[in-house]
Amino acid sequence: MTPGTIRFHDLFQEPDTFLPEVLEGLGASPKHIAPKFFYDAAGSRLFEEICDLPEYYLTRTEMGILTERAAEITALIGPDCLLIELGSGNSRKVRLLLEALRPAAYLAMDISRDHLLGAARLLAADYPWLEVHAACVDYTHRFTLPFGPEGTRRIAFFPGSSIGNFEPQDTVGFLRDVGRALQPDGALLVGVDLKKDPQVLHAAYNDSRGVTARFNLNLLARINRELGGGFVLDDFRHSAFYDTAQGRIEMHLVSQGAQTVRVAGQCFRFAGGETIHTENSYKYGLGEFQDLARMAGLHPVRAWTDSRELFSVHYLSAAPA
Ligand code: AVI
Repeated sequence: MTPGTIRFHDLFQEPDTFLPEVLEGLGASPKHIAPKFFYDAAGSRLFEEICDLPEYYLTRTEMGILTERAAEITALIGPDCLLIELGSGNSRKVRLLLEALRPAAYLAMDISRDHLLGAARLLAADYPWLEVHAACVDYTHRFTLPFGPEGTRRIAFFPGSSIGNFEPQDTVGFLRDVGRALQPDGALLVGVDLKKDPQVLHAAYNDSRGVTARFNLNLLARINRELGGGFVLDDFRHSAFYDTAQGRIEMHLVSQGAQTVRVAGQCFRFAGGETIHTENSYKYGLGEFQDLARMAGLHPVRAWTDSRELFSVHYLSAAPA
C-alpha cells in the first residue's frame, strides 16, 4: 500500500433501523431507544465534549493507565501485530498504542462511515509507516474481520468502557465473537469502568455544564431532524442515576407533563413523569468482569487500574496461557 493511504472495507449492509427501532421503542412500555442512536454528527461532537469534562473521569483515567502501562502492554503483545480498534473513537488512546507497539497493520472498525474514514485518514497521514485499514461494520452485530493476514497476531482494542453499554448477557456473546476472530493467539485489550462511590458516578453523568443533558436530549433533536419528529426539547428533562442493585447508570428522558408527540405520522402519548430509557452504563468489579470474560472463553492475563481504582484495563488472551 502507498504510505498515507487507507484500504476501505465496506461490510455494512444492514438496513437503516433508526425509524423502526424508534417507533417500536416509543410504542413499548416502558419506552426506550437504544444508545447506539446517540452518535449522529452532533451527538459524536457532544460525546467528545463529555470526554473532556472534569466530572467525566473515564477518558482521562483510562489514558493515564495506558500511558503508565504502555511498556508492559507492549511487552505482552509483542512486535508486528495487527491492531484492531473497535469503534474509532478517541484517537489519543490509539495513537499512544500505535507509537508504543509499532504494529504491522492497523484496522479501525466502526458503524459510522464518515467518522471512520475521517479518523483513519488522519492516522494514515500522521503515520506513513503504518498500513491502515478501515472497515465500516456494526461489530456489535456480527463480528468478523474483513481480512486476516496469516501469521499476524491479532490484538483488538476496545477502550472507553463502551462494553458497559451492552447488557451483561450480550457482553458475553460479544466477547465470545471477538475471541473467535482473534484465534489462534490474539488478545483483547478492553477498558472497563469500575464500581465505585455512587456520588462520583452521579457527578460523571450529571455534569455541571449540562453537556450530558444536551447529549441525551440530542436524541430527540435527531428524531425531529431525521424522522420528522415533533418533540419539543424543553418538554423533556435529562435524568441519570446509579442503580446499585444492577450496578449500572441509567439515563432517561423525562416527560415534563402529559403530552402527545408525533413521529413519522404516529402519535405517542406520554404521562407526566413518564420516561424514555436511553442508556445503561454497567460498572464492573475486576473479578466480576474477568468472570464474564471466562464465560466467553477468554483468558484473563492482566488487569490494571489507576491508584484511585476508578477504571480498569484488562488484557484477555484468546488462547490459554
Ligand atoms: C460511550 N459510553 C461508554 C459512555 C458511557 O459512559 O456509558 C456514553 C455516555 N453516556 C453518558 N455519558 C457518556
